Amino acid sequence: MEINSTKNVIKVAIGVCIVCAVLVSTAAVALKPLQKKNKKLEKLKNILYVADLLEKGKNIEEIFKEKIQPAIIELETGKKLSKENYTKILNPDNFNIKKLPHNPNLSIKIPKGMDIAGIKRKSRYMIVYFVKQEGKIKKIILPVYGLGLWSTMYGLLALDDDLKTVSAFTFYEHGETPGLGGEVDNPRWKNLWKGKIVFDKNWKLKIEIIKGKVNATKKDSKYKIDGLSGATITTRGVNNLVRFWLGESGYGTFLKKLREDGVAG
Ligand SMILES: Cc1cc2nc3c(=O)[nH]c(=O)nc-3n(C[C@H](O)[C@H](O)[C@H](O)COP(=O)(O)O)c2cc1C
Repeated sequence: MEINSTKNVIKVAIGVCIVCAVLVSTAAVALKPLQKKNKKLEKLKNILYVADLLEKGKNIEEIFKEKIQPAIIELETGKKLSKENYTKILNPDNFNIKKLPHNPNLSIKIPKGMDIAGIKRKSRYMIVYFVKQEGKIKKIILPVYGLGLWSTMYGLLALDDDLKTVSAFTFYEHGETPGLGGEVDNPRWKNLWKGKIVFDKNWKLKIEIIKGKVNATKKDSKYKIDGLSGATITTRGVNNLVRFWLGESGYGTFLKKLREDGVAG
């Protein structure tokens, strides 16, 4: 049979396909644990970033273990879930912010008028992270998320121990347009959040992103953040998701409970 016959060409093509398929699937399976580990590390890194605990060259997992205390809280009561009540899903290691709102037993539908973050359902439980120093709570990190223009944006908001001053804010996942909505990642914009006050002295929710620039000479500028230019929809999304999670439907009851327990310094 001629070496360049149609039969031979098909045989070689099929052979190459099989070898490639095996190589690709082996690589995908073999790399999965590494991908999972890197994803987890990335998450821890973001938590340490808002906690202001990232140190170059230091082991992320070690710093996290030493300085951060995760807790699962019930949003409705604001109570911490005790360790004895941890389950396979409801525990800090496996807590999945994306999956839980789809679990019918562990989530609720958000009434339309109240769904300002555009997330439709919410988990009845959320994970929060306490930053402790010498046994005292120094900061609290709250995961927040909601709809932007193109995507659901996932972020972390860190409050100081007064439970109203922002110590840092970041998004660790979003699909907004680079240069427009994607400017939520711009360190300059993120820095604007530092030191802003989310509640007034009567614990009324005040934080707000405005269109344009904040007038720093005005008394209420401490409650306001500059909007992102050319990204009104993303900006509105961030404003709404922050207000949703800090409000009654989000961490409101939990934060109130912390204040009553004397955590607010
Ligand atoms: C390709 C493309 C990508 C865009 N990406 C975003 C975005 O990520 N976030 C956003 O708010 N607006 C985005 N916009 C702009 C919106 O369509 C809308 O014009 C804008 O939010 C209005 O903002 P402004 O009032 O600040 O100009 C995009 C527009 C185009 C054409």
